[in-house]
Amino acid sequence: MLDLSVDEVLTTTRTVRKRLDLSRPVPRSLVETCFDLALQAPNGSNNQAFEFVIVEDRAMRAKVADIYRAGMQHFVDMITKDPSIYGTHDVGRSHRREQMSESTAFLNDHMHEVPLLVIPTLLGRMEGQNSFYQASLWGSVWPVTWNFMLAARSRGLGTALTTVHLWREREMADLLGIPFERYTQVGLIPVAYTLGTDFKRGQRVPASEVMHWDRW
Ligand SMILES: Cc1cc2nc3c(=O)[nH]c(=O)nc-3n(C[C@H](O)[C@H](O)[C@H](O)COP(=O)(O)O)c2cc1C
Repeated sequence: MLDLSVDEVLTTTRTVRKRLDLSRPVPRSLVETCFDLALQAPNGSNNQAFEFVIVEDRAMRAKVADIYRAGMQHFVDMITKDPSIYGTHDVGRSHRREQMSESTAFLNDHMHEVPLLVIPTLLGRMEGQNSFYQASLWGSVWPVTWNFMLAARSRGLGTALTTVHLWREREMADLLGIPFERYTQVGLIPVAYTLGTDFKRGQRVPASEVMHWDRW
């Protein structure tokens, strides 16, 4: 357990890629503790309609990483063909054109070496569903997933939330035996001890820029 305050955990739980310790195994008991803490997160009607696949087996990790890379390639090809996805469209406050950063490329190349790969899933499919349904399902799995990442950080583990493999969601389902017709995959989170434990605050807009008091 690191000596971090709640505020420090909240402000320094970064996307860790190049500082994942690829050589140090992560004990199952530690991951279980993180999930035990994470499961205290709120979720719609307390249905707890989520399951997590934790891939530890080396050969399986290699296959999972291959699917991640295929998803990344698809994503990169797509935005290379149509850069407007990140540029002219008003998709947020980052106007940088998406190319693979050094850090993203590192994770892409080394994903199979990360000791644990966690795939959160939720019960239900989003296709054609209204926003209430979608918000209820996504809103049930993200808090527990993020809690897991915070608990991991507090115990010296690093994580990175990734989603590009979802371009190959069915392939991943087939590989891991996830019932695709009933369960939606949420992402893929590499988990490892970190190289060093000091992390900085992220670059974010000032809170005042995103707050509206009383009306928009
Ligand atoms: C919904 C979501 C999807 C993401 N997908 C990926 C991904 O597929 N691959 C990746 O390397 N990083 C991914 N990231 C990580 C972001 O790129 C990262 O959070 C961002 O660079 C900010 O870094 P920071 O969290 O350390 O401040 C994702 C983050 C979120 C929230």
